[in-house]
Amino acid sequence: MTPEELIGLAQEARQRAYAPYSHFAVGAALLARSGKVYSGCNVENVSYGLSICAERAAVFKAVSEGEREFEALAVVTSCGGSPCGACRQVLAEFGSDVTVYVADAEGRYRTFTVEELLPEAFMPEDLPR
Ligand code: THU
Repeated sequence: MTPEELIGLAQEARQRAYAPYSHFAVGAALLARSGKVYSGCNVENVSYGLSICAERAAVFKAVSEGEREFEALAVVTSCGGSPCGACRQVLAEFGSDVTVYVADAEGRYRTFTVEELLPEAFMPEDLPR
């Protein structure tokens, strides 16, 4: 799958964003190593703190379907803003080598790895057993 195809799926997911409070729609598409793609959008709540970002919605959907290994994530916003810190940490849990395409509404994008977005992340191996 090309970056443009994955970004296109994130753009579609963005149309489904539920963002009546911020009016900031975000879409994500997460490509698992299995080849399947899991989409996500932000889902806000009147109790604002309960809202979830598009990226985490996609990761939680995928993991709850049995996926643990990922190749790439595309995220689309109006302005091409990059994932929040909470989403970076959740992505890091499943691999710092995952590629992240950060796109704007016109499809222009920048490419990062999770490692670049969250250097020196607190990782599962940092927990004493
Ligand atoms: N949002 C995301 O979905 N992903 C991010 O990485 C940044 C922020 C959402 C959360 C909230 O619904 C809206 O954008 C404004 O912060």
